[in-house]
Amino acid sequence: MKGIILAGGSGTRLYPLTKSISKQIIPIYDKPMIYYPLSVLLNAGIKEILIISTPNDINTYKTLLGDGSKIGVKIYYKIQPSPDGLAQAFIIGEEFIGNDSVCLVLGDNVFYGKSFENKLQSVADYVDKNDKSVVFGYKVSDPARYGVIEFDNGNKVISIEEKPSKPKSNFAVVGLYFYTNEVVKIAKTIKPSKRGELEITSVNEEFLNLQKLHVNILDNDTTWLDTGTFNSLLEASQFVKTIQKRNSEMVACIEEIAFKKDFITSEKLLETADEYSNNEYGKYLKKLLISK
Ligand code: DAU
Repeated sequence: MKGIILAGGSGTRLYPLTKSISKQIIPIYDKPMIYYPLSVLLNAGIKEILIISTPNDINTYKTLLGDGSKIGVKIYYKIQPSPDGLAQAFIIGEEFIGNDSVCLVLGDNVFYGKSFENKLQSVADYVDKNDKSVVFGYKVSDPARYGVIEFDNGNKVISIEEKPSKPKSNFAVVGLYFYTNEVVKIAKTIKPSKRGELEITSVNEEFLNLQKLHVNILDNDTTWLDTGTFNSLLEASQFVKTIQKRNSEMVACIEEIAFKKDFITSEKLLETADEYSNNEYGKYLKKLLISK
């Protein structure tokens, strides 16, 4: 399975903060936002990753993550000329995806939870073995901002609507999607919505019609954080800070995940630890080497 991180968009909702920098590079406490979705792909065992961003911002990500060798993966980059919708990722990424299945994660989505992290690899395996795609539902208080899931009396998913004015449930579809290779074909056939975007919800509706979509409801142990407003950004940072202090364990430390998954050797980890040696991040990486 391949992985795509969508890190473009106009970012206007966070102006002036995102007027001169990409939204997905701004910090959530002690690391760039993109580390959080990247850690999701690593936890799913994905080692080939495409980052898609704007013509202005793509180089920022290249500077930050390079070819991926520091975390034992291959990272590729592509430009999305204008923000024409999430589903465009599969058209831009067609060549990269090739004949594989693909996981798309939105560059501004932050997840936390041990059970969530632990199940990602099995979700990737499920998609490859069952010819079914998987999306996740999460109970929210403000569903009208999201793709919303409708259930029948037997809890079967019967529709998904994008930002409905009258949401049919409180379950939002989160920005993490595991698709079979069919997604490329589907993305090419959907039509732009009223707001002129190739909607990911149209892709999900198509998989639902084909009876090839499994909706996994995230449990209470999983936290899905919003980063769309100034307040939610601050709250996400405070959340990460609190968890890290309480558990003495970092959230979304990409080098740690890569090391624990044997994507990198101790020597490789030490290189980054040395590079960051004058801060807490570097010290944390050093400790991992001692404790293994
Ligand atoms: O976060 C989950 C929600 O994400 C889903 O529930 C919705 O169904 C889905 O449409 C999406 O809704 P948003 O309104 O949050 O999408 P937004 O336009 O904010 O884009 C999400 C991220 O993707 C954001 O970081 C910008 C980036 N993006 C967006 C578009 C439209 C791109 O890189 N390219 C694009 O063309």
